[in-house]
Amino acid sequence: MNERGLILGIETSCDETAAAVVERGARTLSSVVASQIKTHARYGGVVPELASREHLRAIVPVVRAALAEAGVALGDLNAIAVTAGPGLAGALLVGIAYTKGLAAALELPLIAVNHLEGHIHAVLLQSLPHGRSVIDDEPALALVVSGGHTHLYKVRRQERGAWSYRLMGRTVDDAAGEAFDKVAKLLGFGYPGGPWIDALARFGNPKAVPFAFAQIKTKAHLTGKVARTKAAKTAPIANLDPRFMFSFSGIKTAVLRYVELHGLRDEARQRAARLFAPGVEARPPQSREEAIALCPQQVIDLAASFQCAVVGDLMKKSFAAAESLGARRILVTGGVAANRELRERFSAEAKRRGVQVDFPSLAMSTDNAAMIAAAAWPRFLAGEFAEEKLSADPSMALGN
Ligand code: KG4
Ligand code: ZN
Repeated sequence: MNERGLILGIETSCDETAAAVVERGARTLSSVVASQIKTHARYGGVVPELASREHLRAIVPVVRAALAEAGVALGDLNAIAVTAGPGLAGALLVGIAYTKGLAAALELPLIAVNHLEGHIHAVLLQSLPHGRSVIDDEPALALVVSGGHTHLYKVRRQERGAWSYRLMGRTVDDAAGEAFDKVAKLLGFGYPGGPWIDALARFGNPKAVPFAFAQIKTKAHLTGKVARTKAAKTAPIANLDPRFMFSFSGIKTAVLRYVELHGLRDEARQRAARLFAPGVEARPPQSREEAIALCPQQVIDLAASFQCAVVGDLMKKSFAAAESLGARRILVTGGVAANRELRERFSAEAKRRGVQVDFPSLAMSTDNAAMIAAAAWPRFLAGEFAEEKLSADPSMALGN
């Protein structure tokens, strides 16, 4: 091979079409993301059929842009990496079919990457540039918290640069980001909801509405009937410690109840009609004045209370899991890791406990392809290439 170690990463698991070129799993030469937010916004969530169609439209120009930005020709590449799961089947297939064709035409190895492993590598790529060896001797605890996942992993570097992951806990129903999106939709805000709640919460009283998370008690409960959400399907839950399990469907219902009890429904509907009117480019409020112009203080306080409760629950379980491992490093990644309050409170608590917490940059917290190319590097070195029959695995689990 030529010595540059250039991997082209491609990601199409949900509603972003992304391509990136990363050198030796460590230096990002380009990272291009085409978001489909405008397509899905009016539905308040991702519409799978529309996502596949948009990926088909975007993939060729996005890959071209990533190569051009990196100053790399197709002939310079050493391998191509693609997200194989978890995600939307049709969306994943667009990326897989495209990369299979490209890899065959260029006679390059193809590397299949788990999207969750990608999110973990987004932090490793950015926070530990001088040798991920920081984690060599001790395990780290990773919280992957996004629109599809709320998963805790024990992360460890193995010999010869490979990584191992052990699932320690996860949500039994909705993912945290899903709860942000659903609550924002209920309150008449835009999609994705996380940035709206985040922006509003700055101006609200987080103690206005007392939300509580019930402790998930027994394993018997978990092996019973579990809601069939995207998040719930991506990993087995038997044998996991209930202390590290999450559930976000209850707080969503509690917000709904509050809205109905306080007669806030119509007001939210009117706001949604305003924000989604044709030609309106809605964006989250940037100041207190903009927040007040958008909704009553009661709704701002509700958003702040919801966010405070969710972040508190994520913190409690993440730090408990890290403590149980004796891990002194916590990696927080995925779309919800872009949340301002989450970053502040995790950082403050880590300082108090004398542990290290790392986040990706805001851009690398949400879906991108640099994290896919970075995660592929150890597999490239180990010669772990995808088989010709590679297909999408919508509920692909990570680790053991
Ligand atoms: O990682 P990501 O781009 O896609 C998935 O793999 O799901 O995460 C998207 C999720 C959405 O649910 C979105 O509302 C949430 O991340 N999100 C946030 C923030 N920015 C994005 N949640 C809370 N606060 C934010 N600032
Ligand atoms: Zn993601």
